[in-house]
Amino acid sequence: MKFIKITDLKGKYINRVNINNKMAKEKEEYKTFNNVFDQITIRTLERLMSKKIIEGLDRPLFMGKEANVFTAKTKEGKTVAVKIYRISICDFRTMYRYIRTDPRFTGLQQNRIKIINAWAQREYRNLMKAREAGVKVPMPIAFLNNILVMEYIEDDGPARKIKDKSAKDMKKFFEQVITNMKLLYKKAKLVHADLSSFNILNYQDKPVFIDMSQATTIEDPNAMEYLERDIHNMCVFFKKYRIIADPIDIKKKIISH
Ligand SMILES: Nc1ncnc2c1ncn2[C@@H]1O[C@H](COP(=O)(O)OP(=O)(O)O)[C@@H](O)[C@H]1O
Ligand SMILES: [Mg+2]
Repeated sequence: MKFIKITDLKGKYINRVNINNKMAKEKEEYKTFNNVFDQITIRTLERLMSKKIIEGLDRPLFMGKEANVFTAKTKEGKTVAVKIYRISICDFRTMYRYIRTDPRFTGLQQNRIKIINAWAQREYRNLMKAREAGVKVPMPIAFLNNILVMEYIEDDGPARKIKDKSAKDMKKFFEQVITNMKLLYKKAKLVHADLSSFNILNYQDKPVFIDMSQATTIEDPNAMEYLERDIHNMCVFFKKYRIIADPIDIKKKIISH
């Protein structure tokens, strides 16, 4: 029998046996487990394990509103990041609004499970396209239903977000962000659409874009609006470091040859 071996955020050990044990149902750990792992997620994790993509989960990195991120080990002992979209709490109507204008997902039904699975698949595809275009993003490894497995960005522990750890040279970092946005737009033909200081990791003083599930193709009728919002977010964030940039100039730089 396979177990999903994990600990909760406090480092307390939780495993599959607990959910089959009636006694444990009363306990706090059961509640934590149940909140994060519904039956579909457990079955999907088991399939990822039987496909030898991961060997169980290691520890939680992040517990969010829409997704939880864990570390896991591959057969070769490499650490990877596993992003699990929450089936129960997800605001799937907002997700639907964001995905239905993406030409790659036309005809998607407004069905909770289908939307959430499409969301994980979309993030995988976006990461792949971004990667091929030379944008610094985690390498996607696999997706199945609501779960995405990708390269773990670590730098003496998990890489920190730029909002929490500034780079030595923020001006240079900003320029690299713009270069990545341009590569994403011109080569991958995508806009991130949720770019903020929360979704850029500072990896050895260089930006790594994450959280690409909202990224859409430049043919999406809302793409320009999202690009302008991303640029605005970047200009506002970097202004704190006295980096003054004109959003109109930045946009020209990104979309021109
Ligand atoms: N590949 C990764 N490597 C290291 N840390 C990651 C990775 N992916 C996500 N994280 C961590 O998990 C957090 C949440 O991931 P994110 O994709 O932004 O999910 P959400 O949609 O919930 O914001 C990130 O802010 C980051 O700290
Ligand atoms: Mg995020």
